[in-house]
Amino acid sequence: MDSTINSSKFYGRRKGRKLTPTANLALKEGGKYFIKQSNLEQNLLELFSFYKKKTIILEIGFGNGDNLVQSARNYPKSLYIGAEPFLNSTVQCIQKLKKNNITNVKIWHDDIKKIINFIPPNSISEIKILFPDPWPKTKHRSRRLIQPIFIEYLSLILTQNGTITVGTDHPVLKSWVLEQFQSNQGLEWLANDANDWRTRPSDCFSTKYEKKAYKENRVPSWFIYKKIKN
Ligand SMILES: C[S@@+](CC[C@H](N)C(=O)[O-])C[C@H]1O[C@@H](n2cnc3c(N)ncnc32)[C@H](O)[C@@H]1O
Repeated sequence: MDSTINSSKFYGRRKGRKLTPTANLALKEGGKYFIKQSNLEQNLLELFSFYKKKTIILEIGFGNGDNLVQSARNYPKSLYIGAEPFLNSTVQCIQKLKKNNITNVKIWHDDIKKIINFIPPNSISEIKILFPDPWPKTKHRSRRLIQPIFIEYLSLILTQNGTITVGTDHPVLKSWVLEQFQSNQGLEWLANDANDWRTRPSDCFSTKYEKKAYKENRVPSWFIYKKIKN
């Protein structure tokens, strides 16, 4: 597949407010959670070979880790890989992981597109993308994370019958997600009636952006796609 995906541009924020000394310390001590940037391809090969017998779940854009931490706590036998380029939220997530003594999480502190083509095919059981940045203006649509080529990669790394869950509260992004996934023949939308997309799936937990949506009277939708063929 087109490997230029890992050199495509990232448009989000990487850094916010200056970190407090406590946050800096958490970052330093959180080293064991990080997937190292050097020898990336080899690191990922070793990681996936080491955990090959585990169920592996990938969360893209975990923010402050609300869903990632709670999921890893509830399903300690699974391995959770989280990708998040924004430093300040990554630190908050690490603080929660440490506080809860969670060991079944690995963090890629950067753009998911930089590693997606190094993730072995058929290796991930579930992919969660909760409240991705909507980039609602038409002129910014190429900045949206969910693009046809990206979906192809997601589908490739998923195991057979593996699922992709996307939660979003933005009307423009809701239509966009439906349109982009519809054109992928290898994925099937798992929805029988409106309840299926109006209700947060039982294996996803409330996040900062879900709360924000409800507070501002925007109702999230949840789209789940299953891999039906390679
Ligand atoms: C609107 S926030 C949602 C955060 C969290 N999922 C929640 O529901 O509270 C979107 C997140 O996606 C992250 N993000 C954007 N592009 C990304 C990419 N290419 N790879 C990984 N994460 C990304 C952003 O840094 C941001 O934290």
